[in-house]
Amino acid sequence: LSNGLAVTPPMGWNSWNHFACNVNETLIKETADALVSTGLSKLGYQYVNIDDCWAEIKRDDEGNLVPKKSTFPSGMKALADYVHSKGLKLGIYSDAGYFTCSKTMPGSLGYEEKDAKAFASWGIDYLKYDNCNTDGSKPTVRYPVMTNALMKAGRPIYFSLCEWGDMHPALWGGKIGNSWRTTNDITDTWDSMVSRADQNEVYAEYARPGGWNDPDMLEVGNGGMTKNEYIIHFSIWAISKAPLLIGCDVQNTTKETMEILGNKEVIAVNQDKLGVQAKKVRMLGDLEVWAGPLTDYRVAVLLLNRSLRRDTITAHWDDIGLPPNTVVSVRDLWEHETLKRQFVSNLTATVDYHACKMYILTPTLS
Ligand code: GLA
Repeated sequence: LSNGLAVTPPMGWNSWNHFACNVNETLIKETADALVSTGLSKLGYQYVNIDDCWAEIKRDDEGNLVPKKSTFPSGMKALADYVHSKGLKLGIYSDAGYFTCSKTMPGSLGYEEKDAKAFASWGIDYLKYDNCNTDGSKPTVRYPVMTNALMKAGRPIYFSLCEWGDMHPALWGGKIGNSWRTTNDITDTWDSMVSRADQNEVYAEYARPGGWNDPDMLEVGNGGMTKNEYIIHFSIWAISKAPLLIGCDVQNTTKETMEILGNKEVIAVNQDKLGVQAKKVRMLGDLEVWAGPLTDYRVAVLLLNRSLRRDTITAHWDDIGLPPNTVVSVRDLWEHETLKRQFVSNLTATVDYHACKMYILTPTLS
């Protein structure tokens, strides 16, 4: 969407994966504080996004959405002011139907202009727009109404389409939104995570600055996967130029979670200005090579072992888009080391089961 936003994929936090409907203004403020105190905000995590369940079930007499009095008593303007005072941005959630998915609050169908104006007047910076409880018309009819309303609202608001991929939003989302979900909801399991990654990969061609494929939010830190599986999760999302929206409780992060979410080198791949989503370039059963170009003729490579035994995986230059004689230096983004020797034509590594290696290959002038 040409609204000047999402030049690189958005980074931040969203309440849903960890807190579901248990959201309130204290949680949002404390999360903003924690993003700052942990150092995550400095690494680029900017958006603090409230998901479903923030409003009263009934609009007021003028048809305005009303923040829930029991959980957001100070209202959204005050909350946005607080979040902005921390140098962060505030996101909110609505739905292109009569009610949101939780059915605890109204959707914006028929109220798009009113709601977009309200969001802008509160200082909202990001809208996630869901697809539950609709009138049965196509999302390609309902979503652009909100796009237009946001464009007229007088404030740049990132627009996140949450249509779950059913109508192939990658094919039409670029004109309407800044990102579009390509999948159903993620859960905190290995199978759910890798299947979201696979479904999202199919649409790689459609990602570009201004509009990104969204395989759903991160589960890193929620406890359902091993450390190596979370490293895979974060690596695939990063190399796929997916939104990096933290979905755990940032007030209670472990050292391990911080090591993953705070990996600057992996974040830099996600935020690379070229904005090209990586693809699977070679599959040998459960052993996969993912690769995508970066600025300055560099290439990001992921060697992914989905099997249950340790194995070797090779990236060949002709698969990953490098001329065969190119000599590269190799940076290992999880070991944080540059390999001692240089490589030509291929790179092989031993990769543990349910683990990965992530590298940046930089051509050397030889
Ligand atoms: C849908 C979305 C989720 C979340 C919930 C909230 O399932 O896909 O990401 O927003 O609704 O009810």
